[in-house]
Amino acid sequence: MKRGSWARRAVRSSFHRMNIFEAIRSRRSIKAFTDRPVSREEIERLLEAAVQAPNHRMTQPWRFYVLGPEGRRAYGAALGARKAKKVEDAAAAAEMSRKVEEKHEGLPAMLAVSVVLAPDAEIREEDYAAACMAIQNLLLAATALGLGTHLKTGAVMDDPRARAAVGVPEGERIIVTLELGEPAGASSAKPRTSASALTTWVP
Ligand SMILES: Cc1cc2nc3c(=O)[nH]c(=O)nc-3n(C[C@H](O)[C@H](O)[C@H](O)COP(=O)(O)O)c2cc1C
Repeated sequence: MKRGSWARRAVRSSFHRMNIFEAIRSRRSIKAFTDRPVSREEIERLLEAAVQAPNHRMTQPWRFYVLGPEGRRAYGAALGARKAKKVEDAAAAAEMSRKVEEKHEGLPAMLAVSVVLAPDAEIREEDYAAACMAIQNLLLAATALGLGTHLKTGAVMDDPRARAAVGVPEGERIIVTLELGEPAGASSAKPRTSASALTTWVP
């Protein structure tokens, strides 16, 4: 009786839980998403996983901004305007701008992650590292929930228009934006150099 119920639980959990190594292996940057919306509950679950990251001095420096359609459109407009500046033809530039804006508005979900800037340089570096670990927790948790993610960085993150779109206050720096949704199709793995070639075992 006892064994039977354990076996049932084990079978059930194998459908819902992904081994951590499987999640690490199967996580890929996902560039196209289905139309399935991502629920607030799912995002909250991912963020709770994020904040479990290790953090020297427990500064908890990470801040998360979950952008709705308006915020996404505004962020897309900021990015689109930057991209359009590099295009000479005015019509092509306007078209490029419009496309970037619409693409962002249409994302199933998008987050910006920022870090609170500590006055001390050493703490600032530790805080950046901790926030990156929180982001990786989030990516792996998303993978385990069957969601795809794509990190984006770049000078746009410091652009006043992009910062305003996110609503990030003075004293915080956006360190990444993250697109999130149900993957539309598979993305192939980019080969990595084996860790053994990059590791020195110091006696
Ligand atoms: C900090 C960081 C910033 C990134 N920024 C971008 C970006 O701006 N644009 C982009 O297309 N991909 C970006 N990526 C995704 C990487 O290109 C991607 O992780 C890499 O190609 C390996 O592919 P994989 O994630 O599928 O393993 C970023 C990844 C990291 C870790």
